Amino acid sequence: MSGHRKTILVTGGAGYVGSHTIVMLLTERYKVVVVDNLSNSVKGNGSLPESLERVQTITKCDIKFYESSLEDKDTLRTVFSENKIDAVIHFAALKAVGESCILPLTYYRNNVGGSVNLLEVMKEFHVKKIVFSSSATVYGDPQDLPIKEDHPTGQGCTNPYGRSKFFVEEILKDLWKSDEDWGIISLRYFNPVGAHHSGLIGEDPLDIPNNLMPYIAQVAVGKREYVSVYGSDYSTPDGTGVRDYIHIEDLASGHISALEKLLGKEPTPKGFHGWRAYNLGTGKGHSVLEVIAAFEKASKKSIKYTLTERRTGDVPASYADATRARDELGWTAKKTLFDMCADMWRWQSKNPSGFHRESS
Ligand code: UD1
Repeated sequence: MSGHRKTILVTGGAGYVGSHTIVMLLTERYKVVVVDNLSNSVKGNGSLPESLERVQTITKCDIKFYESSLEDKDTLRTVFSENKIDAVIHFAALKAVGESCILPLTYYRNNVGGSVNLLEVMKEFHVKKIVFSSSATVYGDPQDLPIKEDHPTGQGCTNPYGRSKFFVEEILKDLWKSDEDWGIISLRYFNPVGAHHSGLIGEDPLDIPNNLMPYIAQVAVGKREYVSVYGSDYSTPDGTGVRDYIHIEDLASGHISALEKLLGKEPTPKGFHGWRAYNLGTGKGHSVLEVIAAFEKASKKSIKYTLTERRTGDVPASYADATRARDELGWTAKKTLFDMCADMWRWQSKNPSGFHRESS
C-alpha cells in the first residue's frame, strides 16, 4: 500500500475475533489503535493484554492500546483526539448467552449503551465509517435455509445478548437514515471457530466453554471428560444440531474486505455510504457428530461424548447463504472443517491454559 496508511480503531480488540482481525489488519499495513476494557482477557507482561502481545510477535508490528470501557466517553474522546482515525471496527461486547438472561441490563448497558457512546464520539470527530460485529443470532429460528441477509431479524431472538445485536443493527440503520454520509457494514457471523495457524492466539474461554468447539478441544486435551451432545432427535441427517462453522482467519479476512468497501480501494477509491449487512459463513452446515469426528481426525485423540437433552433456545439447523459477501465484497471462506479443527487443536495443545502462561 502506498501513500497514507489508514488508521483503524478496533474496539474489543483483545478478544477472539478482534485479535485475529488485527493480525490481518497489520499484515495489510493498516495502523491499529485498540480500546478494550480487558473484561474477558488475560493481562500480558507489559502494558498490553497477552493476546495483543502475541499479535505483535506474529506481525512484528506495534499496536497502540487504551484500556477503557466504551462507557467512558472522555477516554473515547482522548482516543479520537490523539489519533487520526479513518474507520472503526466495533467488536467490544459481552457475549455469553446464558449470562445475558440473568444480567440483561448489564448486557444492554455494555452492548447497546457502549455502541451509542462510540457512535456519538465518532460523530463528534466526523468519523463515519464503521464495521459492526453482528451475529447470525439476529435471524432467530430461521424460516428458510440457507439464510439470506433479507431474512427477517429480531423475531425469535431468544435472549438479551441476541437482541442487543439486533438493537444495535437497528440503531445503525436509523443513524444512516438521519445522515447518509455514514458508511456502515454489519457482519453477521455464523459460528467462528479455530485459531491462528501459528498456534499463538486463539479463543480462551475464561470459564467452562458454552460453545461446542472449545468444549471439544478441552475434552481432547484432557481438561474435561466428555462432550454432552445437546439433542439427537432434530430433523437433521444424524439428529444432532447443524451449524455453519467458519474458520476465524476466514472471518477476520471478511472484516478486511468490508473495510476495503467502506474506505474504497484503488483504483476506485470512492468508498461506501449506506447501511448493508453481510453473512460471514461458509454456506455449509455440519452436525455436532461430524464436528466431533473431524476433531478426532485432526487431533488423533478419541473424544468421548454422550447424547443428552436439547439445550433450551437452540435451533435445529442454521447455515448461511454467503453469496452477497462473495458478489459485493469479493470474499469467500476458504478453510475446511478439518482446517478449523487442526488449528484449534494446535492452539489448545500448545496452550492448555489459554493465554495464562503457566498451566493450571
Ligand atoms: C452460540 C450462541 C449464539 C452465538 C454463537 C457464537 C447459544 C444458544 N447461542 O450459537 O448466540 O452467536 O454461539 O458462536 O449459546 N452443542 C453441543 N454440546 C455442547 C455445546 C454445543 O451439543 O457442549 C451443540 C449445540 O446444541 C449446537 C452446536 O453444538 O447444535 C453449536 O453450539 P454452539 O457452539 O454453542 O453455537 P450456537 O448454539 O450455534
